[in-house]
Formats: sequence, structure tokens, C-alpha cells
Amino acid sequence: MTFAARNAIAGNEIGRYSTTAAVEELITPPVQISYTQNLIDGKFVDAASGRTFPTYDPRTAEVIAHVAEADGEDIDRAVSAARKAFDEGPWPKMTPYQRSLILLRFADLVEKHNDELAALETWNNGKPYEQAVKAEIPMISRLFRYYAGWADKIHGLTVPADGNHHVQTLHEPIGVAGQIIPWNFPLIMFAWKVGPALACGNTIVLKTAEQTPLTALYAAKLFHEAGLPPGVLNVVSGFGPTAGAALASHMDVDKLAFTGSTDTGKIVLELAARSNLKPVTLELGGKSPFIVCEDADIDKAVELAHFALFFNQGQCCCAGSRTYVHEKVYDEFLEKARARAIRRTVGDPFKKGVEQGPQIDSEQFKKVLRYIRSGIESNATLECGGERVGSKGYFIQPTVFSNVQDDMLIAQDEIFGPVQSILKFKDLDDVIRRANNTRYGLAAGIFTKNIDVANRLTRALRVGSVWVNCFDVFDAAIPFGGYKMSGIGREKGIYSLKNYLQVKAVITPLQNPAWL
Ligand code: NAI
Ligand code: MG
Repeated sequence: MTFAARNAIAGNEIGRYSTTAAVEELITPPVQISYTQNLIDGKFVDAASGRTFPTYDPRTAEVIAHVAEADGEDIDRAVSAARKAFDEGPWPKMTPYQRSLILLRFADLVEKHNDELAALETWNNGKPYEQAVKAEIPMISRLFRYYAGWADKIHGLTVPADGNHHVQTLHEPIGVAGQIIPWNFPLIMFAWKVGPALACGNTIVLKTAEQTPLTALYAAKLFHEAGLPPGVLNVVSGFGPTAGAALASHMDVDKLAFTGSTDTGKIVLELAARSNLKPVTLELGGKSPFIVCEDADIDKAVELAHFALFFNQGQCCCAGSRTYVHEKVYDEFLEKARARAIRRTVGDPFKKGVEQGPQIDSEQFKKVLRYIRSGIESNATLECGGERVGSKGYFIQPTVFSNVQDDMLIAQDEIFGPVQSILKFKDLDDVIRRANNTRYGLAAGIFTKNIDVANRLTRALRVGSVWVNCFDVFDAAIPFGGYKMSGIGREKGIYSLKNYLQVKAVITPLQNPAWL
């Protein structure tokens, strides 16, 4: 029986299940694991220490492969390969058009291997296969085509200055980029980091998250098939305090890009500062408000607020995790939001129609359940969910809390799980103040038909992305990033290019110029 069917039977009761539910018959992933070693200088190699670590299927918590475990020595080797590829070429010395052709060929290969990449992503991460195969992997080929388009359109300026001088700016690649990515969107994070860095002519050492090492290795293999010279893109698997810290503090890494938690963001920023002061871009956590105004189309707002929070098992940095609802429509919204969460299908992410798979790992699973307990203890009202699903893997019931107050932990911390918190607001002044009263500033959703209300909120909210009557609209061209403790810098679009370029001013005296 599916979780949805059980919930339907449970009717208005809060569902509490302790035995198997959603994951009885698992579908065998339609893909092989071919690459588990580190990819350094164009070759798959074991870790210098010879060590490996297990990677898991979050549906069952069973080991699916052992991957090479990089530490400081492997990071050194990867950085010297990237350094050599940068200093000696051919990558930065190719014409930008030649570089763009390799990015385009890679995008074609991603398209060709779309289904395998999606299957591997689902197997290692637990996200619904339909989401990976129809939305996420196609976004990756799209993003590389977008940055292939930029590769031969990056140029400096001729600058009029006071005095007899010819002044120009050269936009140069920055050098060796260190990139550290998380596990919630392993390949999308790979794309956001690698696309602009390569388009600008840099070389890369990328460390995947320890939970999800598999797809980036596969993608990097495809990149070499597309003609990428050895050493340009090195991909290593390993843990944060060892491999990640070695990369962040490496003296020969010229730029660091990180996505993950705010706590780890602070650590890598400090490591960068204490080593060679490499510039750092950070995409960190969030506690994004989703604001439902009194004039909103309630059915649409319910569906969108549900999506904003529960998408990807709630494991999104920009999840709409504070659902603020105007007091006039609060009761209706709440009833419908609860019914929608109860209808959400949880189960084997490879199964058609399943909306929600397992959380990524035991640590995240326990953390989410801890936050649910904290919500109950702080007297928020548990409307539905609250328990694990089944007895295997990391499945959690779609959970809704109402009567949430701003000072509760569940309204302040990033839960990163399928837990919706619904809060009531009185008027726009009230909701603006409360929505901004957080250390985060990543995104916000606004649901209203009134253009003046939308415009007022859009400008008042201190966040990097505002979605008006929509949510989670991502596109290669749209910049993404955070205010406050949600990060530093922007990724995607034209904005990401400047993360990977140095600007050099060149000043030459002019003798008898015809004009100035
Ligand atoms: P994390 O921020 O610790 O890990 C992200 C990446 O940083 C991984 O590749 C990890 O190996 C690396 N890392 C960890 N410690 C490091 C260190 N000392 N030096 C260099 N690199 C290091 O995130 P984690 O522990 O997986 O999850 C903790 C919480 O972070 C989650 O519950 C969630 O709230 C948040 N998170 C936010 C993400 C986002 O998209 N903004 C993504 C993943 C997690
Ligand atoms: Mg961590």
C-alpha cells in the first residue's frame, strides 16, 4: 500500500506508522556505477592513501559503492594538475570559440546520457527520478550551452581617462578554481560552478559532497570525451574537514566557490583568509518566507507553498520554509495545505508518480526528526505527519505545523526537510518586519493579485531572489545568491562570470593623440 493510500485511510487522523510502508518493493536502478576513483589530470586514480569510503542508497541505507577517499595529498596532486593545465595550457591559450565548442559537445553528451545521469542521481541522492530525468539533467545541458555562448563574448573595455593615456581593461581568467559542492542537487551544483569557470578559461579542482560522489565523476568523464584537455577539470571525492579544508586553504588555489551550510561557509571563508586570501563566493542556507496575501487565489497559493517547501524532500537552500498567511485567509489555507501534505506521495523515488523520496542520510534524517520534536515541544500545532515512513532508509512523512511563532526554533533554523511551518500575519507592515527578521536572506515567495502589494514587498524584502506568484523558477540566465548570512556573490547568468575573472587595467601613454 502506498503512503498516500494509508494517509487517505487515516483520514483526518495524524498518520503514525512504524512498520514498512512506502519502500516494500524497490526498483533496481537502471544504471551501472562505472566511476569511483578520483579524476586527476584526465585519469581515474586511487587515493594516495589507498583508502575508500562507502556511498549509500538513501532508500535502504545500504552501501552501493566504495569511492576513493581524497585527502590533502590528493588535493595537492589535483591542484598541481590544474595549475599545470592553467600555466602551460592548452586550455587558457585556446581561442574562446574552441572552448565554447567543448562546452557544447559536453552538453550534447549530457543530453545523450540524460537517463543514466538521472538514474545515478536518484540512486545516490534519493530524489524522484522523474524530477531528475525531466527537469534537473536537462537544466545541466541548458546551462552549459548558456555558458558556451558566453565563452567568446567576454571582453574588457577601452576606458577614457584624464590625461594622455590609452587605458584598457583585460578580463583574464583567475587561475585555478577550487569548488566545494553539497549533496542536495549534486549535478546542478556541479554545473553552476563548472560552467562559468570553464567559459572564462580557468582550470578546476572540484570536491563533491561525501554523500553524493557518483554523478560528478560520470559527468567529468563525459567532459573528457567532449575533448576537455587533461588537468582542466579534476574531480575528487572526500570529506569536508580533510579534502574540503585542504582545498579551501591551498596556497595555489586562486579562487574558492562553496555551496553548503552557513556554518561551513564561515569555516572555508576563514581558511581562505588565513592561507592566500583567495576570493570566495558562498551560497549558504536560508529560511525563506512565502507570503500569502488576503487577495491570493488560495488553491494556487496552497499548491505553490506546498511545492516551495516539499520540493526535493525539503532539501533546498531556498525552500519556502516560513509560510506567512494573512489572517483573513489563514483557516482556509491551513485546511487545504494540510490536506495537500497528506496527499503527497512518499515512496521509492524510482516509482512513477512518487513525489517524495528519502532524506539524504542518517544525520539529516535525525536532524529533521529532532526539529519536528522541537516544534511539538514548543507548542506549535502538528497538523499532519511527524514520523518516519517505514523502517528502512530515511523516509519522513510530509509534516505541517500551524500556529508557528517567529521565536520558535522551527521558524528560525534551516530544517532542510519536509516540514512546513505556517504562521499568521495581520498586515503588510507586520509581515515585512517579520519576514526580514532572520539572519538569512536567500529568497522569498509572494502570492497576491495586487501589483502594488507585489511591488512593495519585492523591494522591502532583503533577499537575493523574489518569486511573485511562482516559486523555484530557475534558469541559467537568472542570477541566484543571498543577502546577509545566506552568502556572498551570485551564481548563474552574467553575474557568475565576474567570480571567475580578474580585471587588469593597462595604461599606455599616448604621444600626440588625434583625440582623447
Ligand atoms: P556542509 O555545509 O557541511 O557540507 C557542504 C560541503 O562542504 C560538502 O562538500 C562538505 O564535504 C564540505 N565541507 C564540510 N565541512 C568542511 C570543511 N571544514 N572545510 C571544507 N569543506 C567542508 O553541509 P552538511 O553537513 O552536509 O549539511 C548540514 C546542513 O547544511 C544541512 O542540514 C542544511 O541545513 C545545510 N545545507 C545547505 C545546503 C545549501 O544548498 N545551501 C546544501 C547542503 C546542506
Ligand atoms: Mg557538515
